Amino acid sequence: MSELCPPIAAPLCDVTTERLILSRFDRDVLDELAVVFENREVWQFPYGKGMSRDETARFLDAQIQHWEDFGFGCWMARTRNDEFLIGYLGLSIPTFLPEILPAVEVGWRLAPTAWGNGYATEGATAALDAAFGSLGLDSVCSLPQSDNPRSERVAERLGMRLIRRVTVPPDERRGEVVVSHFEIKRDQWIARRASEDRREPRR
Ligand SMILES: CC(C)(COP(=O)(O)OP(=O)(O)OC[C@H]1O[C@@H](n2cnc3c(N)ncnc32)[C@H](O)[C@@H]1OP(=O)(O)O)[C@@H](O)C(=O)NCCC(=O)NCCS
Repeated sequence: MSELCPPIAAPLCDVTTERLILSRFDRDVLDELAVVFENREVWQFPYGKGMSRDETARFLDAQIQHWEDFGFGCWMARTRNDEFLIGYLGLSIPTFLPEILPAVEVGWRLAPTAWGNGYATEGATAALDAAFGSLGLDSVCSLPQSDNPRSERVAERLGMRLIRRVTVPPDERRGEVVVSHFEIKRDQWIARRASEDRREPRR
């Protein structure tokens, strides 16, 4: 697997943030996830349409396999106040862009009802804390589609740096897409988090 993924020091754990419960995918979530994924807006990028229940089941199988193979993956995300499933975010291997492997990507996908609250940034912050903390990675990328400004803005809010735009060839499920290759290094993330701590008001 080392050609796909840099070595990790420890597996990824479940995390609770200020407003989110972030946990490893399990098969019991299929009914809830299918409701989120049938929405076209959730899969506008890259498929331009929502997923069927069968497609969602295959997505879930792939996520569970990713966790088993690599010791990390995307978390399903629930809001703490009502435990409602709002989507997923976290770490994965960007196999659709072989030229940058081995690599780990931080990504996000939420139901439209959850947009505009900062949840993606909050959850991705927890993912980067873990990536550079317990997993011990040196760098993490993000690859939002270049025509998806909302997603690009999450990468920018995290302090990730745009390296280049790159064309990804079509596959059996989607056409050619252009993605924005963002990256952040461990020392940059640690410095950013330290400066955020200094800005926190004293209680
Ligand atoms: C990409 C996606 C996750 C972005 O969601 P988002 O809600 O815009 O991003 P965040 O969770 O970081 O929220 C930031 C927004 O919440 C607002 N916000 C409101 N309350 C906030 C709070 N307490 N803290 C932080 N931000 C807050 C911010 O001002 C910002 O709004 P703005 O972009 O209009 O300025 C979402 O659009 C999505 O899931 N899309 C479909 C899937 C997808 O395209 N995924 C990416 C594939 S490339």
